[in-house]
Amino acid sequence: MNDSNLPGQKKLAARISALVIGTLTVLAPWYISGPLATLNRGIFWTYVITGVLMATVAIVALIWRHALWPAWAFFLLTVWIILAPDTLSSAAKDVSIMHLILGAAGIVVSVFWIRRMFGRIPQDRPVVKGRTFRECSSSERTLYGLVICVLGLGYCMALGYLYMTHAGLNGKPGISVQDIAITYYGNRSGTRLELMLRGQMRDKISPDEMDRVVAWLKSGSTEDEYDDTIYPIIMKDCASCHSAKSGKNLRDYTTYEGIIPVATVDHGMSIETLVKLSHIHLFGIGLVTFVLGFVFCFSTLPAWFKNVVIVAPFFAMVIDIATWYLTKWDPVFAYTVVVSGLILGSAWGIQIFVSLYQIIFLPAAEKKA
Ligand code: HEC
Repeated sequence: MNDSNLPGQKKLAARISALVIGTLTVLAPWYISGPLATLNRGIFWTYVITGVLMATVAIVALIWRHALWPAWAFFLLTVWIILAPDTLSSAAKDVSIMHLILGAAGIVVSVFWIRRMFGRIPQDRPVVKGRTFRECSSSERTLYGLVICVLGLGYCMALGYLYMTHAGLNGKPGISVQDIAITYYGNRSGTRLELMLRGQMRDKISPDEMDRVVAWLKSGSTEDEYDDTIYPIIMKDCASCHSAKSGKNLRDYTTYEGIIPVATVDHGMSIETLVKLSHIHLFGIGLVTFVLGFVFCFSTLPAWFKNVVIVAPFFAMVIDIATWYLTKWDPVFAYTVVVSGLILGSAWGIQIFVSLYQIIFLPAAEKKA
């Protein structure tokens, strides 16, 4: 039996009602608590993105008629919101927990109700039992095993690079959400020069000279004034370390070009750089996710779990990149960048470790005599 056997109109009606009811089931709790979320701008936008995402997942899922997907998506996204606690006031956390409960209820209701309603419509596609690592030839297994090892190593390198380029941006050792915020949003409270003069470099300069440097920064850091008043101060107090001649491999502040990067307000990454990074990441991470997911498909795990782990990195990647731009606009989104990165990393980790384990330990299928 196949639902193409149903009369055309009835089939269409069933599909449309599945679409509408499913979408409403998923979106209802979001709408109920939506007004509460307007209490805080950051939370509000988190909810808007979540809502749009949920609606997209619901529509895609229901077109494919995997009716349970929207409920799952809703549940997972709510967990995601709760996992970013610092973006949430306690009131909003209650909202999230309410979502979570409603999401869980939604899953239960979807299982019973959608099954009952549409259980009579058989799936178009027959359930095909896919190939597993057991059926793969030994050369296939070797190839898959090696490629995921190399990609896993690449990911470790990426994490190392991330650490090296982000750690300590906020003046504290190690990497934190604040460092991520500074990368995209910048440090708009002032210039790096003023920050350092009031902080680590305080004892290198007299209060009077400090006032003059700060006045120069506030008046727009012009080149003329640099030559007249700032250059002598730099030569006297700073050049022993911050000049090409010092041999200390520190930035050279004895030229206007040298000092200007720390003398202007830091607005974070430029849009141009973001667009460049976005396309590199979408191509690169998209392909890595495909290869890892492709190999992971051969694992012998419940299909629902495999689907979640295969889909998660794609969503995480898109959310991650979208929130770079949002972080540039409002640093509160740095939390979302971090959480989506964690989701991506965990999903890849599961794919790599499960696949490797099964490639090594799953016995090959017996040949039929
Ligand atoms: C004794 C050597 C020494 C002198 C003199 C000195 N600095 Fe520094 N400065 C350093 C070192 C070392 C660092 C790197 C500190 C770090 O990264 O933790 C640094 C870092 C800085 C930074 C941050 C650079 C960056 O890229 O983040 C600024 C700005 C700065 N110094 C300004 C000054 C100014 C202005 C003076 C003169 C008033 C001065 N420094 C005098 C050693 C010196």
